[in-house]
Amino acid sequence: MGSRIVATGRATPRTVITNHELERRMDTSDEWIRTRTGIAQRYALCTDESLVEVAERASRQALARAGMKPEDLEAIIVGTVSSDFGFPSFACQLQHRLGLNSIPAFDVAAACSGFIYALSVADATMRAGEWSRVLLVGADALSTMVDWNDRSTAVLFGDGAGAVVMVREAGQRGVLGSILRSSGEYWELLSVRNRGIQSPIDAEARANRDDAIKMKGPELFKIAVKSLEDITRKVIERAGVSLDDLSLIIPHQANLRIINAVAQRLGLGAEKVFTNVDRYGNTSAASVPIALDEAIESGRIRDNDLVLLNACGGGLTWGANLIRW
Ligand code: ACO
Repeated sequence: MGSRIVATGRATPRTVITNHELERRMDTSDEWIRTRTGIAQRYALCTDESLVEVAERASRQALARAGMKPEDLEAIIVGTVSSDFGFPSFACQLQHRLGLNSIPAFDVAAACSGFIYALSVADATMRAGEWSRVLLVGADALSTMVDWNDRSTAVLFGDGAGAVVMVREAGQRGVLGSILRSSGEYWELLSVRNRGIQSPIDAEARANRDDAIKMKGPELFKIAVKSLEDITRKVIERAGVSLDDLSLIIPHQANLRIINAVAQRLGLGAEKVFTNVDRYGNTSAASVPIALDEAIESGRIRDNDLVLLNACGGGLTWGANLIRW
């Protein structure tokens, strides 16, 4: 027995912030942001919106496409570092919005790798026979955690949610394997002191800038490229397949230069790498499920394709999932 993704969904907050709008707020340029990151716009959560509501929309879309009702679910796992509360978890809030009760619901906090980690946990638990139908969500709102006066981080992040429905089933298709890694040694490369939604773009200026995201971009860049190459090779090797067998990689959408550098080291052509960072920015744990949903919608993934998901983020954490679609 294994687990298989049977449907996906995605949702974003309603406000789009283009690079040109950021030019009006800080000393930056559309040209700098595009050439250094590949980002042209991002969605930002505003004060009158709830990220749980955004996640609910993505979840209901995935459930409808799976032909299921919320009552069919046996567990909810959310990869997030953006819960409104220290506790209860984001997953418990989402469970309530979906009108459910009593099924297990919990968060996995691995920053940008949250969805990759959550997928691995869901797959292992389903293999063990514990659950048959699981809702897996990646949702984050890191735009609310930046200091809008710090141009080196403010331009990078966007908000959103992606959802998938997984079922337990036998057969060749489904999750073939996952590998997860972390290295607390590098925690200072990317961190934020407080948990949860803090200062949306339309709110009053942040009271304490020490509470905003802190990042050492150039060091992080180098470690991300190395880790993502390494984890991709390892998960492929362990499954007994080769890089040539891969139909598509769906990488975490942090920065086009990181994505291209990893693809180049792996010897993969652009046609095998899905990107949408230009329209979303870095949506942290939401980036892989949002990209997966768009890849399916645009016909880039077909039955029996070999698909690899990978991500690297604060922790540091990184990981990859290999899937026979
Ligand atoms: N607009 C204009 N200029 C800027 C901006 C901006 N938004 N941000 C920084 N600069 C300036 C800097 O001040 C610096 O100026 P100086 O030379 O006069 O001092 C210059 O641009 C170069 O700055 P660097 O930080 O060296 O630029 P770099 O080419 O390294 O790009 C970036 C910065 C995009 C942050 C890059 O390091 C990066 O992408 N790192 C990875 C960060 C990341 O993706 N984090 C997300 C989470 S981790 C993950 O998901 C993998």
